[in-house]
Amino acid sequence: MDKRFYITTAIDYVNGAPHLGHAYEKVVADVIARARRSLGQSVFFLTGLDEHGQKVQQAAHDLGQSPQAYCDDLAVQWSSFVQSLGLSHDDFVRTTDARHQHIVVALLNRLHATGHFYKSAYRGFYSVKEETFLTEKDRNPDGSWDPQWGVVQELVEENWYFKLGEHQSWLVEYLEKNPEFVQPTNRRNEVLGFLRSQKLEDLCISRPSSRLSWGIPLPFDPGYVTYVWFDALVNYFSIPAALGDPAALAPLGSPAPAGSSLSVWPADIHLIGKDILKFHAVYWPIMLHALGAPLPKTILVHGWWQKDGAKLSKSTGNVVDPLAIIGEWGLDAFRYYVVRELGIGPDGNWTDDGFRVRYNSELANGLGNLLNRAVNMLNKYRAGVVPSPSRTLAAEATAVVEKTRACYLANDPQGALIAAWELVNRANLFVEETKPFHLAKDPAQSELLDSVLYNLVESCRILAVLVQPVMPATADKIFAQLKVCGEASDWKQSAWGGLAQGHQVGAPIPLFPRKDLAPK
Ligand code: MSP
Repeated sequence: MDKRFYITTAIDYVNGAPHLGHAYEKVVADVIARARRSLGQSVFFLTGLDEHGQKVQQAAHDLGQSPQAYCDDLAVQWSSFVQSLGLSHDDFVRTTDARHQHIVVALLNRLHATGHFYKSAYRGFYSVKEETFLTEKDRNPDGSWDPQWGVVQELVEENWYFKLGEHQSWLVEYLEKNPEFVQPTNRRNEVLGFLRSQKLEDLCISRPSSRLSWGIPLPFDPGYVTYVWFDALVNYFSIPAALGDPAALAPLGSPAPAGSSLSVWPADIHLIGKDILKFHAVYWPIMLHALGAPLPKTILVHGWWQKDGAKLSKSTGNVVDPLAIIGEWGLDAFRYYVVRELGIGPDGNWTDDGFRVRYNSELANGLGNLLNRAVNMLNKYRAGVVPSPSRTLAAEATAVVEKTRACYLANDPQGALIAAWELVNRANLFVEETKPFHLAKDPAQSELLDSVLYNLVESCRILAVLVQPVMPATADKIFAQLKVCGEASDWKQSAWGGLAQGHQVGAPIPLFPRKDLAPK
């Protein structure tokens, strides 16, 4: 059985409202997943929800609900959010799923049995809001605690610890030998810089159930539940294991069920935001290494969105509501904009004007206008019948196809769109250069007109395949207008010459209606 290309997103805190940052990460992961499928790979795409912890327990309590009922209500909103983004995920994990919890327990038992945990007392300052112990380094210069920590309490507590520190030199060496493990490079350097300059403390993996009951109980000490990251990170591994993947079951000492046909672990990409880099690039590989499990290939780290140069924040009202944008402009326009605007790495800035400008210039006047002109002229001058094949733009289109493919394979969806728009712009320019509306008036230019029209509709057909991972519905609309059989989701359709002479195309329908450019 062939291993599937396995991509994950971070799992979102169930009690946070879905926002642009969540939408971006999911759309980018979806684009990578769809591109790989188009290129012939079999894919497993996982996303989901992180449901345990103090804040959820507290919020449920405040509402007079059980934490499970509270999570179940919120999970409905999240799953409709995911649907609105048009994701092609293969599974949706909730950390309250029995299948997840079962594997977390098996993993904890295994690491306990192999001597990776110990129990110890700790005295320290604890931020209830951030669910974390603070160190002296977290104090302000005047000794006070920053308001970001909320109420800070001094606590003495016995807890379970994971011997994280033991693996520090192994991890440094691993990062040095595997440059693709953390991408982009500046994030890898950040992790290496941190590991080379600071001694890694052992990791507290538990909370007493008297303080936090909403978690997975430690199987070897029932007075405790797992600490949030030891639960959450494991989702990437628990779902393959629960579905019977032998590569995830073997390190747990469990045999694969008879007839098991799933092979996904190790993950090819964990797509995450920059704020959770340390958990993914330090804790997670060490947990897997201690378990004797293969490591994910790449932790791919994206930046954070702001709006109008300021942090997204519900309390200040500085928000972008992805569902409102999708409602007004359409899902594909939203997906296009976020992918085109922000490559994986830097931080991004949403402006409503920026969105409108890209919509009008790149979608309405760019791709939309190209298709509209091509189909319109073919209908007008040739009754919608494709003339004999011509190769005037073939070499340029083929080079663009190759460039776009390379970007998708390099997990660079923004680069893929930039490459594809070379063909959009080239073909639109070709209309200006050849002036088919003039050629149509001169019967002596009939052959040239045939050739121009062929090159235009064929470019549109190929563009549908190139943009399909980002704008699946648009790609299908282009294929439908051209009345071509075959799937725009199959990269093989991007070879020049797919339109046969005599093929009848449909009527033109605008892809992206133009909208008023004036700021609202
Ligand atoms: N539950 C943890 C992740 C556990 S993964 C095993 C968590 N959840 S979160 O809801 O706070 O964030 C989910 C993802 O959204 C993270 O990758 C985070 O970086 C991303 N984003 C949250 N706000 C963001 C922006 N403003 N911009 C881009 N992405 C952002 O962390």
